[in-house]
This record gives sequence, C-alpha cells and structure tokens, in this order.
Amino acid sequence: MAHPEKQDLPPLQHIAIIMDGNGRWAKQRGLPRTAGHAAGAESFRRIANYCRTLGVKYLTVYAFSTENWKRSQEEVAGIMRLLRRYLEEALQDMEKNRVCFRFFGDLSRLSPELQKLCRDAENRSEEYDVQVNFCLNYGGRDELVHAAKSFAADVAAGKYRAEDLTEELLATYLYSKDVPDPELIIRPSGEQRTSNFLLWQSAYSEYVFMNVLWPDFAPEHLDQAIAEYHRRNRRFGGV
Ligand code: FPP
Repeated sequence: MAHPEKQDLPPLQHIAIIMDGNGRWAKQRGLPRTAGHAAGAESFRRIANYCRTLGVKYLTVYAFSTENWKRSQEEVAGIMRLLRRYLEEALQDMEKNRVCFRFFGDLSRLSPELQKLCRDAENRSEEYDVQVNFCLNYGGRDELVHAAKSFAADVAAGKYRAEDLTEELLATYLYSKDVPDPELIIRPSGEQRTSNFLLWQSAYSEYVFMNVLWPDFAPEHLDQAIAEYHRRNRRFGGV
C-alpha cells in the first residue's frame, strides 16, 4: 500500500530527543566542547520552532543528565551558562513564541539563579502551542526512586495504602505527570542506547537512531524521523 502523504497524517503529540554529539561536532572542528554545546543550543531553538509549526504539543529534550556532573567543571559550567541564557531570553519571548516550559529532574543541585529561572518559566506557562520539557539533572532511575519515595511518604501519612499503587497512580508521582508518553524518541549521533532517558515513559515509544550529530540536526532530519515513525506498525503488545 502506498504510504499516506505527510499532510494527511495527524501531528505527533509528543517527541523526545537525546541531544547527542555536541562534543564530537566540536572536536571535528578543533573547537572546545562548549562550542559544540552552543551549536547544540542553536539546533534546539531551530527544532523547537519547527515542532511548533508541525503542531507537535510536547517536546522533551535531554539537556543534562544525573551522570553529566562527571564532566569537567568547565564543560558543566558552559552548559549551565547556555541554559541560563536561553531561559532568560525565553522568558522575554514566551508569549510571542507561544511556548511554555516544564523541567524534569532534581533541580535542587542547580545554582539558585538557574533554579529561579526554571521556576519563573514554569509559573509563566499559560497560553501556548508547544510545551518544552527540559530534562535537567535528570535520570530515569532517579525519577523512579523519587516517585517511590514520594509515594512511600504518602503511605506513611495515611493518604494511600501500599496496595493502592497502580501504574496510573505511580505515573502521577513522575516528573512527567500530566504529559502523555512520547510516541517517538530520537537519538542522533549514531549511538544506540537509551542512557537512562524516560525509562517509564518510553515503554511503547518508537526509537529512531540517526547518524547526524545534534548541532547538524535540521528540520529535514526531524521530517525523516517522523516518516520512519509512520512506517512502523505500533501494536502496544497486541497483534
Ligand atoms: C550530549 O552531547 C549533550 C549534552 C550532555 C548537553 C546538551 C546540552 C545542550 C544542547 C545545550 C543546552 C542548552 C539548551 C538551550 C538546549 P555530548 O557532549 O555527549 O556529545 P559527544 O558524545 O559527541 O561527546
């Protein structure tokens, strides 16, 4: 059967991206790794805008993992600086760009300035076309531990009994509460791992791995990933 044309298909609701390959992009050019992250931040801007024009409702990006603290102080500071600059600008333009923000991760380890920017961005989220979920100091396992602890605290407080726990109830303790699971997860840069990203939410996501470094990732790569998604036959464990 001929494949339906792109314009006939409803937009995906939620796309998630592991923004990988910034370091290699910089190395290929003899630049410091932070230059790769700066180019990666530009690529993110382009793709977030493009998602909005496609009608994608949620875009989740892996910006900093619980493991990324192992990198040099200079590199960590460089990524934090880029995030701060991006959020400062985004706070000015949120209404115009019709974008709102959520943050998945344990923000308590971030600088007080960055924590405040994250809170301000979340609190200003009203009218929007696309919601960007930034995973910051995020790990899928850490998210599940955090959820388990919060549920245990509610059990201790008498709000629930242990046997009340269901998949639906556990999902309400995750950072992604109220966000539908991603249909598509894209990892550029040629690596084929999940790297502790959205472990719970990715149960039925389609993964598309691509041989392009994140700073070079352009709207046509997103088109290719979406086309690949539509070629797949999603069965959710059925037949
Ligand atoms: C992975 O590439 C990328 C990161 C750990 C950081 C991602 C951060 C950004 C794109 C900038 C954040 C700011 C905004 C505004 C989105 P890598 O460094 O592991 O690449 P490599 O595997 O080639 O070394």
